[in-house]
Amino acid sequence: MTDESPARVLIAGASGDTGTELLAVLRPTEFTVRATTRSYTNVEQLQRLGADEVVVADFFKSGDSVAAVEDCDIVCCALGTPPSYRHTVGGKLVDRTGVSNLLTAAVSEGVSHFVHQSAIGVGSSKAGLPLPARLVIRGSLKAKHDAETAIRRSEIDYTIVRPGKLTNEPPSGDIVVGEGGDSVSGSISRADVARVMAAAPFTGDARNRTLEVVNRGGLSGPPKRVVDVDWAFDRINADPDRMRL
Ligand SMILES: NC(=O)c1ccc[n+]([C@@H]2O[C@H](COP(=O)([O-])OP(=O)(O)OC[C@H]3O[C@@H](n4cnc5c(N)ncnc54)[C@H](OP(=O)(O)O)[C@@H]3O)[C@@H](O)[C@H]2O)c1
Repeated sequence: MTDESPARVLIAGASGDTGTELLAVLRPTEFTVRATTRSYTNVEQLQRLGADEVVVADFFKSGDSVAAVEDCDIVCCALGTPPSYRHTVGGKLVDRTGVSNLLTAAVSEGVSHFVHQSAIGVGSSKAGLPLPARLVIRGSLKAKHDAETAIRRSEIDYTIVRPGKLTNEPPSGDIVVGEGGDSVSGSISRADVARVMAAAPFTGDARNRTLEVVNRGGLSGPPKRVVDVDWAFDRINADPDRMRL
């Protein structure tokens, strides 16, 4: 990424609910936004939502992952397994295999920052998700744990964002951030997750950290291990020349 040319940001899983919010955040900025989906039928919709480029990619395929990441500076990964018994039984899940292919492609492309949407409940944050819910999605939690580990072990700068239960509320901007796993629990809007993910590559405080995030109004139980993060929201402010409806 150079200061002269605006960065190209890949939103992996742009057709999903958080991915769509990421598009809304990044559309009015100076960045070139590349969106992915597996389905050609989503292409026009993603362009309408503000994607400058759309790549049809299945991240189970390493060739698709390489093509999706080509020439990108930043990757925002909002991939997830659709509703399925696989959340319980595990196996080959996009949360592990797809993220791993994406990460490998990002490392060889020289991507400067990998932002990953994980979940409270994964790994050290298991106390933040009640046991019955953990049992139901134990397969995808394990896959996400493996993906987090691969990201931390890679040579790429990263931010792993572990949100609580996702809602479709408007952004509140009031986010409580914890670190160390057993920290905060509750819910957060996808819109607030998207703002945090978009700002993460420009936020020194967020570099190479794994952070649990919830909305203050969505907190369940007393927050612990709260950390102060000075999110670089100024970097994702709208560029007036790029405002379009
Ligand atoms: N639900 C919650 O309360 C909660 C809480 C914390 C964290 N999370 C996690 O947050 C993440 C985002 O959740 P969300 O509900 O916003 O997402 P979502 O609506 O389920 O979207 C998932 C995205 O992943 C894409 N995808 C799935 N398999 C793919 C594959 N093989 N190749 C390429 N793309 C693939 C889908 O694309 P297409 O279908 O268009 O191809 C879609 O864009 C997920 O990892 C989820 O587990 C969820």
